[in-house]
Amino acid sequence: MFNAAIKAVDVVLNVSLSRRTVLCSIRHYCKKSSKKLRVSEALEGSDVGSNITVEGWVRSVRSQKDNLFVHVNDGSCLQPLQIVASSELNDAMLTFGSAVEVTGCLKQSPSRKQPVELLADQINVVGGCDTLEFPFKIKERHGLDYVRQYPHMRCRTNVFSSMMRIRSAASAAIHSHFTERGFIQIHTPVITSNDCEGAGELFQVEPSGQTTEPDKNFFSVPAFLTVSGQLHLEVMSGAFSRVYTFGPTFRAENSQSRRHLAEFYMVEAELAFTQSLEDLTKVMEDLFRSVTEQVLDRCSEDVDLFHQRVSPGHRAVVEAMLKESFTVISYTEAIDILNRSSHNFVFPTTWGCDLQTEHEKFLVKHCGNLPVFVTDYPYDLKPFYARDNLDHPLHTAAAVDLLVPGVGELCGGSLREDRLDLLTARLSQAGMEDTYDWYLDLRRFGSAPHGGFGMGFERYLQCILGVDNIKDVIPFPRFSHSCQL
Ligand code: 4AD
Ligand code: MG
Repeated sequence: MFNAAIKAVDVVLNVSLSRRTVLCSIRHYCKKSSKKLRVSEALEGSDVGSNITVEGWVRSVRSQKDNLFVHVNDGSCLQPLQIVASSELNDAMLTFGSAVEVTGCLKQSPSRKQPVELLADQINVVGGCDTLEFPFKIKERHGLDYVRQYPHMRCRTNVFSSMMRIRSAASAAIHSHFTERGFIQIHTPVITSNDCEGAGELFQVEPSGQTTEPDKNFFSVPAFLTVSGQLHLEVMSGAFSRVYTFGPTFRAENSQSRRHLAEFYMVEAELAFTQSLEDLTKVMEDLFRSVTEQVLDRCSEDVDLFHQRVSPGHRAVVEAMLKESFTVISYTEAIDILNRSSHNFVFPTTWGCDLQTEHEKFLVKHCGNLPVFVTDYPYDLKPFYARDNLDHPLHTAAAVDLLVPGVGELCGGSLREDRLDLLTARLSQAGMEDTYDWYLDLRRFGSAPHGGFGMGFERYLQCILGVDNIKDVIPFPRFSHSCQL
């Protein structure tokens, strides 16, 4: 790995010449032509002995009598590359936060703190940074609440840049998870006329500057930003059997909570020839496990940063989630557990009430602080597409939510009502039979029992990283002005 020239320099080091002398020797031995590397590539060490150029942002500058030590990070990994240069290369513009281009010889570092360092013979400050005005200060560990105030700048902090790499890796892991299992990715539309969830939390879409008079809609019917790609996935599952989508989803929720956004990413899967909720819970559990294992494997340093600095103790929670199998309880059992507890809940816990975050978090704790599936919710709580269990007098729907530690609801799914007569009756009761005639067609022609679920991607990241506020796991959070930062 190390060429002969570098070995020779190491020998020079052993006879303890000054660092300044070493700098000169390196310059002499290093190959002339310069190769551009990312910091992560330089840290791998295979280019030791080569003349390289790195570009990035200064994370620290330390000037000593003879030498200058600069840490440069370019977002390719958590670790910065240590630059060692003669103090003659120091420059008033070379400050914390400035953008630099550095050329020099990559060598093995004498210190254990880093595997390699760059002996620079050129440091070019590409963009200066006024450290007094810059919101982040050298050596200060800014809290998430503070950095959240600078959405355009926070990617320059270690914690947020780690989060972004984890987010990117988790996104790639989701795509490979489904691809490896034969699912076809569907780009479901962002603009749609349906309110899949029926909750009325819609953002309407019209060309700007035009009034939304009836009959004058741009799309001939009122159009909205999607609240779920499910109905379009149901169409596609009728031809490809196993499909998924992963994209932006919009909800006009005025929620003050730390787990709601107006724009978030949802992973949704739909499976034809699915007979039971167990078929779905297996897919949900498998997705959670395989994506989390890949993220822990590929981003271990970044994840460790969260588990050490942001959520101490959370690593054990994640490991337990991966080790133990998820619990399954019915909604009716969940209500029994809540009613038997001595806890004073704010919201009612009578059969028929929706489970609130406080209930969800209690149930997770009750089940050993592990993920828990809650199945068979009251029929009236679920949207029109949920399959009727026909279990009179209880009357439940074959729906399932996955509740996880720290977050509460992570996934929501159901078997879909595939019986034409029952679906027609429910839609006509709601006056929606005509609007959803195309949806009824799916049951008229080659209908197969099917089901699916959606997982909130930001809530997933909150869950594995132990992040309390959902705004800290998305690059640019979108939320109602009435919601606190
Ligand atoms: O439970 P939901 O509303 O389910 C559906 O939309 C189904 N149509 C999905 C399907 O079956 N294909 O949403 C699914 C998940 C929730 O469990 C939650 O994790 C996340 O999406 N979610 C939100 N995440 C952030 N901000 C919001 N406002 C969210 N609303 C839902
Ligand atoms: Mg839900």
